[in-house]
Amino acid sequence: MNIIEKHFMRYFLLLFWVGLVFSCKTSEEPKIGLITENAMVVSAHPLASEVGKQIMEEGGNAVDAAIAVHMALAVVYPEAGNIGGGGFFVIRNQDGSTHSLDFRERGPLLAHRDMYLDEDGEVIDRKSIKGHLAAGVPGAVDGMARAHERFGSLPWKQLIQPAIDLAERGFVLSEAEAAKFNRAKENFNQYSTVNPSQFTGKEWEENDTLVQSQLAETLKLIRDQGRDGFYKGQTAKYIVEEMERGEGIISYEDLEKYESTWRAPLEGTYKNFKLITMGPPSSGGIIILQMLGILEDREISRNGEAYAEYLHLKTEMERRIYADRATYMADADYYPVPVQELLDRNYLSQRFQTFNPEKATPSDEIAAGKILSMSEETTHFSIVDPEGNAVACTTTLNGGMGSSVVVDGAGFILNNEMDDFSIKPGHPNMFGVLGGEANQIEPGKRMLSSMTPTILEKDGQLFMVVGTPGGSTIPTSVFQAIVNVVEFGMGMQQAVNEPRFHSQWQPELIFYEKEGMDQGIKSAMENKGHSFSERGGIGRVDGILVLPDGRLEGGADPRGMDEAFGF
Ligand code: GLY
Repeated sequence: MNIIEKHFMRYFLLLFWVGLVFSCKTSEEPKIGLITENAMVVSAHPLASEVGKQIMEEGGNAVDAAIAVHMALAVVYPEAGNIGGGGFFVIRNQDGSTHSLDFRERGPLLAHRDMYLDEDGEVIDRKSIKGHLAAGVPGAVDGMARAHERFGSLPWKQLIQPAIDLAERGFVLSEAEAAKFNRAKENFNQYSTVNPSQFTGKEWEENDTLVQSQLAETLKLIRDQGRDGFYKGQTAKYIVEEMERGEGIISYEDLEKYESTWRAPLEGTYKNFKLITMGPPSSGGIIILQMLGILEDREISRNGEAYAEYLHLKTEMERRIYADRATYMADADYYPVPVQELLDRNYLSQRFQTFNPEKATPSDEIAAGKILSMSEETTHFSIVDPEGNAVACTTTLNGGMGSSVVVDGAGFILNNEMDDFSIKPGHPNMFGVLGGEANQIEPGKRMLSSMTPTILEKDGQLFMVVGTPGGSTIPTSVFQAIVNVVEFGMGMQQAVNEPRFHSQWQPELIFYEKEGMDQGIKSAMENKGHSFSERGGIGRVDGILVLPDGRLEGGADPRGMDEAFGF
């Protein structure tokens, strides 16, 4: 087995694991989601959605609610919700102004290009995926503080308190959550320097209560001191001591210097819709705008054989665009990402000249396009407040439970986001995507992301808020949710329930969800030369749709515990 095959094998094992977490149970699910008059939160955990609703009932706006939901998810959904990771906010205020906040992790100052290679230049197994060296400098707390400084309306303390209460009093585990914590124990034991007994201390069962006292104390420091409660003082000391014990490299200076960044959101149009999404260091916004750019002049249908034609078209787009991702996309502060060139309609039509409606194009015949000048455990939530302000937030530790390092004393899990860098050209990351020089490791640089928090306007009015976890499958899941609503006329819940498909240049396969593939469609596509691989659920899309009468419909993904709350 060569190195690429070996890593794709790991990727398949990861998909199997993810499948256990993201079960696919779309067929029996309700087709219409929660409908409310005024406000809504849809997130990966009912307790976090409830916190967001409560904040808005207390007069908070969408950004207030987003901060409170983000902090609550760090407690009740610690495999991806976080204070030890990072993410992106895309915001559209009711006056139509748009913003994006990048609180993505950064490479530590001691990071360097070859830090995961041995003396022969070979990748050291798992070094970028588990343990202290896998962690980037966390951005989440700085991001929340910065969002509050600019748009918050309620006192900061009021937004952090619900998370403290959940950590201190604990919350009751479902059967699936108990199983998830039991599965995570082995890695926690192996990679944390001090046994995190709050997670590992017992065999979890349904209805047990998970209390996180250390995390509650850290959240109190954040409540009382803002960003300094994390990046300075006691919490910084805990992080640096953890690094010293585990031979990691995050330093006081890294923490002190971390800054999240307001960026102009990436915007583009599709028919009479405007998309407001995340640009670099995410690849996600570019990918969905490229896909929609190719789709715009084509007729597609959800029915019969025409659906196979659409899936063929979608796969062929994905192959070409993920080849572009591997070559051109990275942190634009460190590499000149040719965003406008990649989105240029002439470029896209040239890129698609080799498309054959009858036949799959082998991935090894596809390279990145010629430009004339020159990322599965994450979580997403969508919020609309009573004024019509909207926030789409995707936030992550990268893999499930991140690096599996729990910072002793501080009680939170550190990300393993360093694996989203290209650790060696041509070496696939844990999601099987390839990368090159553009996304190589550099101190202070942000690793390339696939997270795609997105807001749509229709005819100038707020229309949809959407996003999902899912590593490299994120952009294609967001694309499908949008197409399901905009082209196939579905409501939000139905669009979320629909079976999903994903492909990404390499591996040269179409992934489909268990029980999510019609045999006739599959055969029609096999006849065109496509190969398939079954897996567990793809993504967990949480969206909100503004209905024609102004009410809101939530789409909470039935693949998880996701739930919509509103009023
Ligand atoms: N860690 C997943 C992503 O940012 O794409």
